[in-house]
Amino acid sequence: MSQEKTIKFQAGAAKFLAVGLVVGLLVGLLLGPYLSAYIFAASGAHTASYVDKIKSRGKLIVGTSADWPPFEYIDKNGQYAGIDIEIAKRIAQKLGVQLEIKDMKFAALIEALKKGDIDIILADMTPTAEREKEVDFSLPYYFGKGYAVITLKTSNIKSEQDLYGKRIGVQLGTIQEEWAVNNLKGKAADIKSYDRVYPEMVMVLKRGDIDAMIVGDKIGEALTIKDPDLKIATYVGVPTIGGAVAVPQGAEDLKYVVNSVIEELINSGEMDKIFQQEILKWLGEAG
Ligand code: ARG
Repeated sequence: MSQEKTIKFQAGAAKFLAVGLVVGLLVGLLLGPYLSAYIFAASGAHTASYVDKIKSRGKLIVGTSADWPPFEYIDKNGQYAGIDIEIAKRIAQKLGVQLEIKDMKFAALIEALKKGDIDIILADMTPTAEREKEVDFSLPYYFGKGYAVITLKTSNIKSEQDLYGKRIGVQLGTIQEEWAVNNLKGKAADIKSYDRVYPEMVMVLKRGDIDAMIVGDKIGEALTIKDPDLKIATYVGVPTIGGAVAVPQGAEDLKYVVNSVIEELINSGEMDKIFQQEILKWLGEAG
């Protein structure tokens, strides 16, 4: 080959390679998620397919802690209701299976998921580094503005500093409990952890056994709008991801389905509707 020809050839080859790379990259980007889901779904032999297991069982088993309106609570007809329950219904629908809700204490959910007693967790669970060591999380489905400090209307607690030396109720195993331990324990506060928030911890507050309780912002609003004896005294903590769905570690196929449902709900505006509807439904509940 003459020198000129060699250079031309090299330039041609480089162009070919570059185009090939770009096309390959695009195809990979576009098809990657579909392919990987397909491969996971199809390769039951190597990777356990969580989706196949749920489909052959014919039902999706969702773990929750139904003490946290408007995300999950037991309505006046004794049915599980709330935002997370609606999302769970959509996921079951997408999988073409029935839905079973298993209600347990919040602190028991991750262990139940790891043992395989439940397929996913929908409990307004916030992804944290510590939890990520044990489970995987879906895309978040809302963001929170911090934690609500709920007191009786008559209380004069107005700030984080006012919580020093007080009796503070939190739910066992939650990020609110962690926040209280880290920020108030050294300030002589008595942190009391409870398994269930509504109605149990609310009753404890009303009885006067605690001075305040710290919960998520959305449940704080839901509880105080409904109950004229209660108020949000202040917000503490920082804005965070609100809730995401927890799936077993490595359950890629299942996470893919969950994420696609969440994405569809958010993009279509349906998620906003679910939030509005379920908050109104909770406020309309007697009692
Ligand atoms: N978002 C908080 C957390 O992840 C509290 C969730 C409590 N949920 C419930 N269903 N009780 O720690």
